[in-house]
Amino acid sequence: MLEKVMTTTKIVQMDSLSARELERLIFYCGGSGAKVAVIEDNRAFELRDRMLDELNSIKEIIRLNKVFPDPKVADIMEMADSIAGKGINIIIGIGGGSTMDSAKGVAAVLSNGGDLEDYLGNTPLRKIEKKSIKLILIPTTAGTGAEVTKFGVYTARTGRKYTLNNTLLQADIALLVSEYTYNLPAPLTAATTFDALSHALETLWNRNATEVSDRLAIEAAIYILRWMEVAYDNPVEGRREMLQGACTAGIAFNMTGTAAVHALSFILSEEWHIPHGVACAFTLEDVMRLNMQDENTRRKLLAVAHGVFGEGAEEPLLEGLFHRIVELKRKFRLPFTFADINVGLSAAELSPLFEKSLDDPKMSNNIVPVDMKIVKEIIAAKSL
Ligand SMILES: [Fe+2]
Repeated sequence: MLEKVMTTTKIVQMDSLSARELERLIFYCGGSGAKVAVIEDNRAFELRDRMLDELNSIKEIIRLNKVFPDPKVADIMEMADSIAGKGINIIIGIGGGSTMDSAKGVAAVLSNGGDLEDYLGNTPLRKIEKKSIKLILIPTTAGTGAEVTKFGVYTARTGRKYTLNNTLLQADIALLVSEYTYNLPAPLTAATTFDALSHALETLWNRNATEVSDRLAIEAAIYILRWMEVAYDNPVEGRREMLQGACTAGIAFNMTGTAAVHALSFILSEEWHIPHGVACAFTLEDVMRLNMQDENTRRKLLAVAHGVFGEGAEEPLLEGLFHRIVELKRKFRLPFTFADINVGLSAAELSPLFEKSLDDPKMSNNIVPVDMKIVKEIIAAKSL
């Protein structure tokens, strides 16, 4: 209910999407003279390809696929340069978080000019000042919530990952098409569902939390925890619900930003190219335990536990929630230790690499302040 007013993105949930329907939407956004570029990844995906081939036969589109995990500024600039000056006024992004972030990046550069790298960092050279051209995002995983957020995550030419945070980046329309998430392989389902769960929980243990963001995030966390295992076990069942849960979590963290789990995950992705959802799952139980020291966060997590398990006493419910997450991580074959991600460094060697996570604005969102002592404790626990 609240979702409708908490995002500027128009959200439509549907089981399937035809080329005719997308063409009508393009007309609605840009009239008969609309010029469209589609950003997609380069893996074969029959459902998407069939629909786009048919769309292209009705209305000419430009398809770009220089999209990889942890999207790089150079790839986004290459795509933007290839269509600059061609009058493109609608960008459609179809894919996972990296694809949708790439689409956001291309749309932002086309509207604002310059190089995407100039907009990144704590003291950027330029600021996004113009609303991106019309942007339609269609997720094919249920995790990042990028279809409804104002964030884009980009790897600069230096190799550092940065979050670009600006409401002008936000998509105009998000289409949640269930069948695009059917048959998602188990490892991808594991990573993306844990990303969505991290978004909901990081909204709760967040300094920017409000009563409204809490309400949305509690609802999202309960929904995701109810459906993530079903989606993991089934090619079709639970997929529609996970798309909805990930989208709701996206709307929630769009209001607060993320926190320590995400700040630490960026180092794992920068240093060892750990996929985003896996990198979030890596420290989720450690950061949850840390934030359970905060009374207000305990109260919020208790509301989640009530929604998942029903009534009960505080302590067993909170512990039950913690262990449920650990159990799901284990079942989904997600990593708990540095050895699990094939990193053979000692705790002493790892610590300096994680120091820069403290400069990440996301880290300061964490409700329990995180300093190097806490980061070292988390690293030590994962190095045993
Ligand atoms: Fe995330």
